[in-house]
Amino acid sequence: MDKKLNAAEGAYSKILNLCTGDIIMGIGTGSTTDIFTQTYMPKLKNRITKVYSSSDRSTKLLHSLGFTVVESLPTTKCIDIYVDGADEIDMDLNLIKGGGGAHFREKMLTKSSSCFLCIADDSKKVNALGRFGIPVEIKAEKLDHVKKKLLEYFPEFSQRDNLSDNGNVLADLRGKILDEPIKFEKIVNSIEGVVEVGIFAIDKPSLAIVGLADGYELIESSMA
Ligand code: A5P
Repeated sequence: MDKKLNAAEGAYSKILNLCTGDIIMGIGTGSTTDIFTQTYMPKLKNRITKVYSSSDRSTKLLHSLGFTVVESLPTTKCIDIYVDGADEIDMDLNLIKGGGGAHFREKMLTKSSSCFLCIADDSKKVNALGRFGIPVEIKAEKLDHVKKKLLEYFPEFSQRDNLSDNGNVLADLRGKILDEPIKFEKIVNSIEGVVEVGIFAIDKPSLAIVGLADGYELIESSMA
C-alpha cells in the first residue's frame, strides 16, 4: 500500500512542477490510480477545469469526491496530464495495461494527453512484457474469428467472465514474452474484431513513477 502511495505522491510532485495554471486531467483505472485520486485530486481541485475518466469505476470515485467528469471521450489532444497505472512496465516504458479491462478508454486518453504519468509499485517492473498476460477487448460477433487468429501467435487464449464497460468481450493472451511489443501491438490491433489490445508500446507514458518502500524512482524512456 505504501509503495502505491509513494508512486501517487511522486505524480503529485511532478504535476506541481509541470503545471503552473489550470489543468485538464485524465484519470485511469486501478488501485494505484484510486490512491492518487483519493489523496491528491482534492489538493488539485481548484486548478482542475475538466476531468476525463477511463472507466465507470473511476468516474464513480471522482463523483464521490465532488468532481464533474466529462461524459464523452476526448477527440483532440486536450488533456494536459493523464495519470494511470500499469500491469507491467519494461525499461523502455512499454506497458501492459488492461488488468481492469479498461484499456480501450485508457488508450484513448493516452493518445489525447500531452503528458502521461504512469504510476505503479516496483513489482510491475519487468525485463520484457508478457508474463502478466495481454488483455484484449473484442467485438462479440467476431469472437471466433479473433480467437482463431490470435491463437496463431499466442499459445493461450482465456475469455473473462465479465464484459468491458463498452459491452465487449474481454480476454487474456498468455504463454508468450514480447520481445517486440510494437510489432505485437500492431499485429493484434490489425485483426478485424479487435477493439484494443493492452500493449502500450506506440503510445507510451512520458514518465513512469515507480513506488518503492522508501520513496519512488523515475523512469524516462530513452525513446521518448
Ligand atoms: C486497468 O485496466 C489497468 O490498466 C490498470 O492500470 C492496472 O490494472 C493497474 O492496477 P493496479 O494499480 O491496481 O495495480
